[in-house]
Amino acid sequence: MPARIIALANQKGGVGKTTTTVNLAAGLAERGRRVLILDFDPQANATSGVGLPKTDGVSLYPVLLGERRIEDVIADTAIPRLSIIPAEVNLAGAEVDVPQMDRYLHKLADALRPLAESDRFDLIFVDCPPSLGILTMNALTASDAILLPIQCEYYALEGLSVMIRLIERIRGSEANPRLEIEGILMTMYDQRTNLSNQVVQQVVEHFGDKVYETMIPRSVRVSEAPSYGQPVLLYDRNCTGATSYRQLAKEFLKREAARNAPAAPPAPEAPPPAADTTPAAG
Ligand SMILES: Nc1ncnc2c1ncn2[C@@H]1O[C@H](COP(=O)(O)OP(=O)(O)O)[C@@H](O)[C@H]1O
Ligand SMILES: [Mg+2]
Repeated sequence: MPARIIALANQKGGVGKTTTTVNLAAGLAERGRRVLILDFDPQANATSGVGLPKTDGVSLYPVLLGERRIEDVIADTAIPRLSIIPAEVNLAGAEVDVPQMDRYLHKLADALRPLAESDRFDLIFVDCPPSLGILTMNALTASDAILLPIQCEYYALEGLSVMIRLIERIRGSEANPRLEIEGILMTMYDQRTNLSNQVVQQVVEHFGDKVYETMIPRSVRVSEAPSYGQPVLLYDRNCTGATSYRQLAKEFLKREAARNAPAAPPAPEAPPPAADTTPAAG
Protein backbone atom coordinates (compact mmCIF):
# COMPACT_ATOMS: atom_id res chain seq x y z
CA MET A 1 0.00 0.00 0.00
CA PRO A 2 1.36 3.46 -0.79
CA ALA A 3 1.89 5.76 2.18
CA ARG A 4 -1.01 8.06 3.00
CA ILE A 5 0.13 11.68 2.84
CA ILE A 6 -1.55 14.07 5.25
CA ALA A 7 -0.95 17.82 5.40
CA LEU A 8 -1.36 19.54 8.76
CA ALA A 9 -2.40 22.95 7.62
CA ASN A 10 -4.04 26.15 8.78
CA GLN A 11 -2.98 29.59 7.61
CA LYS A 12 -3.03 30.78 11.21
CA GLY A 13 0.08 30.38 13.30
CA GLY A 14 0.04 29.06 16.83
CA VAL A 15 -2.98 26.78 16.45
CA GLY A 16 -1.15 23.51 17.14
CA LYS A 17 -0.09 22.27 13.69
CA THR A 18 3.45 21.41 14.76
CA THR A 19 2.46 20.12 18.18
CA THR A 20 -0.11 17.85 16.56
CA THR A 21 2.27 16.70 13.83
CA VAL A 22 4.91 15.66 16.35
CA ASN A 23 2.61 14.10 18.92
CA LEU A 24 0.15 12.37 16.64
CA ALA A 25 3.07 11.00 14.63
CA ALA A 26 4.73 9.77 17.83
CA GLY A 27 1.45 8.25 19.03
CA LEU A 28 1.00 6.38 15.76
CA ALA A 29 4.62 5.19 15.78
CA GLU A 30 3.99 3.89 19.31
CA ARG A 31 1.09 1.89 17.87
CA GLY A 32 3.28 0.31 15.23
CA ARG A 33 2.88 2.61 12.25
CA ARG A 34 5.95 3.67 10.28
CA VAL A 35 5.66 7.43 10.15
CA LEU A 36 7.62 10.14 8.37
CA ILE A 37 7.30 13.77 9.42
CA LEU A 38 8.09 16.23 6.66
CA ASP A 39 8.97 19.51 8.35
CA PHE A 40 7.86 21.93 5.65
CA ASP A 41 8.07 25.11 7.74
CA PRO A 42 11.37 27.05 7.53
CA GLN A 43 10.97 27.80 11.26
CA ALA A 44 11.81 24.11 11.79
CA ASN A 45 9.78 23.69 14.97
CA ALA A 46 8.94 20.05 14.27
CA THR A 47 12.64 19.37 13.70
CA SER A 48 13.64 20.80 17.07
CA GLY A 49 10.50 19.27 18.60
CA VAL A 50 11.94 15.79 17.98
CA GLY A 51 15.36 16.87 19.16
CA LEU A 52 17.18 17.33 15.85
CA PRO A 53 19.37 20.28 14.87
CA LYS A 54 18.75 22.47 11.84
CA THR A 55 21.46 21.68 9.31
CA ASP A 56 22.10 23.59 6.11
CA GLY A 57 21.36 21.39 3.14
CA VAL A 58 19.33 18.85 5.12
CA SER A 59 15.70 19.50 4.23
CA LEU A 60 13.42 19.03 1.27
CA TYR A 61 14.79 22.22 -0.28
CA PRO A 62 17.75 20.70 -2.17
CA VAL A 63 15.45 17.85 -3.21
CA LEU A 64 12.97 20.31 -4.72
CA LEU A 65 15.86 21.90 -6.61
CA GLY A 66 16.93 18.47 -7.90
CA GLU A 67 20.25 18.66 -6.07
CA ARG A 68 19.79 15.81 -3.57
CA ARG A 69 17.90 12.54 -3.42
CA ILE A 70 15.02 12.39 -0.95
CA GLU A 71 16.47 9.24 0.69
CA ASP A 72 19.52 11.28 1.68
CA VAL A 73 17.64 13.84 3.77
CA ILE A 74 15.62 11.42 5.92
CA ALA A 75 16.77 11.24 9.54
CA ASP A 76 15.84 8.84 12.33
CA THR A 77 14.47 10.16 15.60
CA ALA A 78 14.82 8.75 19.11
CA ILE A 79 11.40 7.16 18.67
CA PRO A 80 11.29 3.80 16.94
CA ARG A 81 9.47 3.89 13.58
CA LEU A 82 9.43 7.73 13.53
CA SER A 83 11.59 9.46 10.93
CA ILE A 84 11.78 13.06 9.80
CA ILE A 85 12.85 15.16 6.86
CA PRO A 86 14.07 18.20 8.81
CA ALA A 87 13.59 21.83 7.87
CA GLU A 88 16.20 24.58 7.66
CA VAL A 89 16.04 28.32 7.11
CA ASN A 90 16.93 27.90 3.41
CA LEU A 91 13.59 26.20 2.86
CA ALA A 92 12.12 29.71 2.84
CA GLY A 93 13.89 30.15 -0.50
CA ALA A 94 11.43 27.68 -2.02
CA GLU A 95 8.78 30.41 -1.92
CA VAL A 96 10.90 32.25 -4.51
CA ASP A 97 12.48 29.41 -6.51
CA VAL A 98 9.62 26.98 -6.90
CA PRO A 99 7.14 29.33 -8.67
CA GLN A 100 9.70 29.72 -11.45
CA MET A 101 9.68 25.99 -12.19
CA ASP A 102 7.42 23.98 -14.48
CA ARG A 103 4.55 22.24 -12.71
CA TYR A 104 5.40 24.35 -9.69
CA LEU A 105 2.37 23.24 -7.67
CA HIS A 106 3.37 19.61 -8.12
CA LYS A 107 7.00 19.84 -7.01
CA LEU A 108 6.39 18.23 -3.62
CA ALA A 109 4.09 15.57 -5.08
CA ASP A 110 6.77 14.67 -7.62
CA ALA A 111 9.49 14.60 -4.94
CA LEU A 112 7.46 12.40 -2.57
CA ARG A 113 6.10 9.96 -5.14
CA PRO A 114 8.95 7.41 -5.08
CA LEU A 115 8.90 7.44 -1.27
CA ALA A 116 5.12 7.20 -1.02
CA GLU A 117 5.08 4.30 -3.46
CA SER A 118 7.92 2.43 -1.78
CA ASP A 119 6.95 0.33 1.20
CA ARG A 120 9.07 2.32 3.66
CA PHE A 121 6.38 4.38 5.44
CA ASP A 122 2.69 3.95 6.22
CA LEU A 123 2.05 7.63 6.82
CA ILE A 124 3.68 10.89 5.82
CA PHE A 125 2.70 13.98 7.84
CA VAL A 126 3.53 17.33 6.28
CA ASP A 127 3.83 20.10 8.88
CA CYS A 128 2.94 23.26 6.93
CA PRO A 129 4.00 26.84 7.61
CA PRO A 130 1.38 29.33 8.86
CA SER A 131 0.57 30.82 5.47
CA LEU A 132 -1.04 29.86 2.20
CA GLY A 133 2.14 30.33 0.21
CA ILE A 134 3.85 28.02 -2.20
CA LEU A 135 4.94 25.49 0.44
CA THR A 136 1.42 24.99 1.78
CA MET A 137 -0.04 24.89 -1.74
CA ASN A 138 2.48 22.21 -2.69
CA ALA A 139 1.60 20.27 0.46
CA LEU A 140 -2.13 20.38 -0.34
CA THR A 141 -1.44 19.32 -3.92
CA ALA A 142 0.69 16.37 -2.78
CA SER A 143 -1.60 15.12 0.00
CA ASP A 144 -4.37 12.57 0.17
CA ALA A 145 -5.95 14.50 3.00
CA ILE A 146 -5.68 17.56 5.21
CA LEU A 147 -5.85 17.55 8.99
CA LEU A 148 -6.90 20.93 10.33
CA PRO A 149 -5.99 21.88 13.88
CA ILE A 150 -8.27 24.65 15.14
CA GLN A 151 -7.61 26.62 18.28
CA CYS A 152 -10.67 27.04 20.48
CA GLU A 153 -10.90 30.82 20.14
CA TYR A 154 -13.28 33.44 18.86
CA TYR A 155 -12.00 33.73 15.27
CA ALA A 156 -11.60 30.00 14.75
CA LEU A 157 -14.60 29.58 12.51
CA GLU A 158 -13.58 32.45 10.25
CA GLY A 159 -10.15 30.97 9.69
CA LEU A 160 -11.68 27.57 9.12
CA SER A 161 -13.97 28.84 6.37
CA VAL A 162 -10.96 30.29 4.52
CA MET A 163 -9.35 26.85 4.59
CA ILE A 164 -12.52 25.07 3.49
CA ARG A 165 -12.91 27.39 0.48
CA LEU A 166 -9.30 26.75 -0.45
CA ILE A 167 -9.77 22.97 -0.19
CA GLU A 168 -12.81 23.21 -2.47
CA ARG A 169 -10.84 25.20 -5.03
CA ILE A 170 -7.97 22.73 -5.01
CA ARG A 171 -10.39 19.85 -5.42
CA GLY A 172 -12.15 21.57 -8.30
CA SER A 173 -8.87 22.24 -10.11
CA GLU A 174 -6.47 19.82 -11.72
CA ALA A 175 -4.09 20.39 -8.79
CA ASN A 176 -5.58 17.71 -6.54
CA PRO A 177 -9.15 16.47 -7.11
CA ARG A 178 -8.67 13.69 -4.53
CA LEU A 179 -7.93 15.92 -1.51
CA GLU A 180 -10.06 14.82 1.46
CA ILE A 181 -10.54 16.26 4.92
CA GLU A 182 -8.88 13.79 7.27
CA GLY A 183 -10.28 15.55 10.31
CA ILE A 184 -10.66 18.76 12.26
CA LEU A 185 -8.95 18.83 15.65
CA MET A 186 -9.90 21.23 18.41
CA THR A 187 -6.75 22.30 20.25
CA MET A 188 -5.99 24.25 23.43
CA TYR A 189 -9.42 23.39 24.67
CA ASP A 190 -10.40 24.68 28.10
CA GLN A 191 -13.60 23.04 29.27
CA ARG A 192 -14.06 25.63 32.02
CA THR A 193 -14.64 28.46 29.57
CA ASN A 194 -17.89 29.12 27.75
CA LEU A 195 -15.87 30.36 24.80
CA SER A 196 -14.14 27.01 24.26
CA ASN A 197 -17.44 25.20 24.50
CA GLN A 198 -19.21 27.59 22.13
CA VAL A 199 -16.46 27.34 19.53
CA VAL A 200 -16.54 23.54 19.66
CA GLN A 201 -20.31 23.55 19.33
CA GLN A 202 -20.20 25.82 16.27
CA VAL A 203 -17.49 23.86 14.54
CA VAL A 204 -19.36 20.60 15.16
CA GLU A 205 -22.58 22.17 13.82
CA HIS A 206 -20.82 23.00 10.56
CA PHE A 207 -18.57 20.02 10.12
CA GLY A 208 -20.26 17.19 12.01
CA ASP A 209 -18.26 14.01 12.26
CA LYS A 210 -15.23 15.51 10.50
CA VAL A 211 -14.45 16.92 13.95
CA TYR A 212 -12.48 14.49 16.10
CA GLU A 213 -14.19 13.50 19.31
CA THR A 214 -10.79 13.82 20.97
CA MET A 215 -9.97 17.39 21.89
CA ILE A 216 -6.55 18.54 23.04
CA PRO A 217 -6.68 20.49 26.30
CA ARG A 218 -4.40 23.39 27.06
CA SER A 219 -1.53 21.85 29.00
CA VAL A 220 1.69 23.35 30.29
CA ARG A 221 3.49 20.05 29.74
CA VAL A 222 2.61 20.17 26.03
CA SER A 223 4.20 23.58 25.69
CA GLU A 224 7.30 22.60 27.70
CA ALA A 225 8.10 19.41 25.81
CA PRO A 226 9.59 21.03 22.65
CA SER A 227 12.32 22.76 24.65
CA TYR A 228 13.47 19.28 25.69
CA GLY A 229 13.38 18.09 22.08
CA GLN A 230 10.74 15.51 22.93
CA PRO A 231 7.14 14.77 22.02
CA VAL A 232 5.00 15.20 25.13
CA LEU A 233 4.31 11.47 24.88
CA LEU A 234 7.90 10.91 26.01
CA TYR A 235 8.41 14.02 28.10
CA ASP A 236 5.58 13.29 30.50
CA ARG A 237 3.79 10.08 29.51
CA ASN A 238 0.86 10.53 31.84
CA CYS A 239 -0.01 14.21 31.63
CA THR A 240 -3.36 15.16 30.11
CA GLY A 241 -1.69 16.36 26.92
CA ALA A 242 0.05 13.03 26.35
CA THR A 243 -3.11 11.09 27.15
CA SER A 244 -5.14 13.17 24.68
CA TYR A 245 -2.65 12.78 21.86
CA ARG A 246 -2.55 9.02 22.48
CA GLN A 247 -6.36 9.03 22.37
CA LEU A 248 -6.21 10.97 19.10
CA ALA A 249 -3.88 8.35 17.61
CA LYS A 250 -6.46 5.71 18.53
CA GLU A 251 -9.28 7.68 16.95
CA PHE A 252 -7.17 8.29 13.84
CA LEU A 253 -6.68 4.53 13.44
CA LYS A 254 -10.38 3.90 14.00
CA ARG A 255 -11.18 6.22 11.08
CA GLU A 256 -8.51 4.53 9.01
CA ALA A 257 -10.06 1.12 9.70
CA ALA A 258 -13.52 2.41 8.78
CA ARG A 259 -12.17 3.86 5.53
CA ASN A 260 -10.46 0.60 4.61
CA ALA A 261 -13.36 -1.66 5.58
CA PRO A 262 -14.98 -3.30 2.57
CA ALA A 263 -18.14 -1.44 1.58
CA ALA A 264 -21.35 -2.97 2.93
CA PRO A 265 -23.07 -5.17 0.34
CA PRO A 266 -25.80 -3.30 -1.55
CA ALA A 267 -29.26 -3.61 -0.02
CA PRO A 268 -31.55 -5.96 -1.94
CA GLU A 269 -33.45 -3.89 -4.49
CA ALA A 270 -36.93 -5.31 -4.25
CA PRO A 271 -38.43 -8.27 -2.46
CA PRO A 272 -38.29 -11.40 -4.58
CA PRO A 273 -41.51 -12.06 -6.47
CA ALA A 274 -44.00 -14.20 -4.57
CA ALA A 275 -43.56 -17.88 -5.33
CA ASP A 276 -45.69 -18.95 -8.24
CA THR A 277 -48.32 -21.30 -6.85
CA THR A 278 -49.43 -22.68 -10.18
CA PRO A 279 -48.05 -26.16 -10.50
CA ALA A 280 -45.44 -26.39 -13.18
CA ALA A 281 -46.75 -27.91 -16.31
CA GLY A 282 -45.59 -31.40 -17.19
N1 LIG B 1 -2.42 21.81 23.96
C1 LIG B 1 -1.54 22.80 24.18
N2 LIG B 1 -1.41 23.32 25.43
C2 LIG B 1 -0.54 24.31 25.67
N3 LIG B 1 0.26 24.86 24.76
C3 LIG B 1 0.18 24.39 23.50
C4 LIG B 1 -0.72 23.33 23.15
N4 LIG B 1 -0.57 23.06 21.82
C5 LIG B 1 0.37 23.90 21.37
N5 LIG B 1 0.83 24.69 22.37
C6 LIG B 1 1.87 25.74 22.28
O1 LIG B 1 1.35 26.78 21.47
C7 LIG B 1 2.37 27.28 20.60
C8 LIG B 1 1.92 27.10 19.16
O2 LIG B 1 1.77 25.72 18.87
P1 LIG B 1 2.34 25.10 17.50
O3 LIG B 1 2.03 23.67 17.50
O4 LIG B 1 3.76 25.51 17.30
O5 LIG B 1 1.41 25.87 16.46
P2 LIG B 1 1.58 26.06 14.87
O6 LIG B 1 2.48 25.00 14.37
O7 LIG B 1 0.18 25.97 14.35
O8 LIG B 1 2.14 27.43 14.68
C9 LIG B 1 3.62 26.51 20.94
O9 LIG B 1 4.37 27.26 21.85
C10 LIG B 1 3.11 25.24 21.59
O10 LIG B 1 4.04 24.69 22.49
MG1 LIG C 1 4.28 25.17 13.26
